Amino acid sequence: MTPIDGRAMARALTDRIAADVAALVGDGIRPGLAVVLIGNHAPSEVYVARKIAEAARAGIASFEHRLPADTDEAALLALIARLNADRAVHGILVQLPLPPQIDAARVLDAIAPAKDVDGFHPVNVGRLSTGTGGLVPCTPLGCMMLLDSVIDDYRGLNAVVIGKSNIVGKPVAMLLLERECTVTVTHIATRGLPEIVRAADIVVAAAGAPRLVRGDWVRPGSVVIDVGITRVTDTAGKARLVGDTAFDELGHARAATPVPGGVGPMTIACLLANTVRAAEAAGR
Ligand code: GUN
Repeated sequence: MTPIDGRAMARALTDRIAADVAALVGDGIRPGLAVVLIGNHAPSEVYVARKIAEAARAGIASFEHRLPADTDEAALLALIARLNADRAVHGILVQLPLPPQIDAARVLDAIAPAKDVDGFHPVNVGRLSTGTGGLVPCTPLGCMMLLDSVIDDYRGLNAVVIGKSNIVGKPVAMLLLERECTVTVTHIATRGLPEIVRAADIVVAAAGAPRLVRGDWVRPGSVVIDVGITRVTDTAGKARLVGDTAFDELGHARAATPVPGGVGPMTIACLLANTVRAAEAAGR
C-alpha cells in the first residue's frame, strides 16, 4: 500500500499558490481572506489558526473577525454585508459550527457567491451539481487532488462515499460523479455497509466515526481517502487524532491517506487556492 502524503502535496500546492499570489501582487492585487470565528469551539480555534498561518505563508492577507459566543444573527449578517462590500476581501469564510441562536443557512446565503471560498452558498452548490464552475468546497477538492495523485482514469470505477454532509459527503460525491465514477453515497442509516464498501475501487470515509472502516471492508487494490478526524484519549490518558479508517489494517489497499497528514493539510491548501481564484476573478 502506498501512503498518500497529504502534507507534502499541500506544501507543494501552497508553494505554487505563493507564486500565483506574487504575480497578483505584481499586478496590484493582494488576495485577501476574511475568517470569521464565533465563540470558543476548541477545534474551530485550531483550524482557524492554521488557516491564517498558511494564508500568511502564501502571501495572502487575512482579516480575522472574532465574535463572542452570544453574538446574534443580525450582527453577523451586518459583518458579512461589510465584508461583501470590502474590495480588499476576496474570500469570506465563516467557521462552522455556529452557536445555536444563529441560523447557519441564512448566514451562508448572505455571503456573496464570488467570495464564498468554502463553496457552501446555494449558488455554488448548484454550480457544482450542474458542472458549471463556481467555487468548490475545500475538503472535497483536496480529496480529489489526493486521488488524482494515484488514479489516472476514473471512468466506471465504483466509488463509495461514507457520510452525506454538505461539507464533504455530498460535494465529493458530485465531483466523483463528474469523473464518471459509479457513486454510492452511504450514511448512518445504510444497511450492509461493509458489503457495499467491499465493492468499491475508491472509498471516501467522511462519517466522523473513528476506525469505522476496517481492513476486511476494503478490497485489495482500492484507494482509500480518510476524511475523519476525531480526538480520542488512549488508556494512558494521551490524546491523539484518529481517522474513520483502520489505516494499520489497509496493507492490501493500493493507496490510502493517513490521519493526521492526509486530507487535513490539503483542505487548507485548497482554501488558499480558492481565495486566489476569487481574487483573480475579481481582478478581471
Ligand atoms: N468546519 C468544519 N469544516 C469546515 C470547513 O471546511 N469550513 C468551515 N467554514 N467550517 C468548517
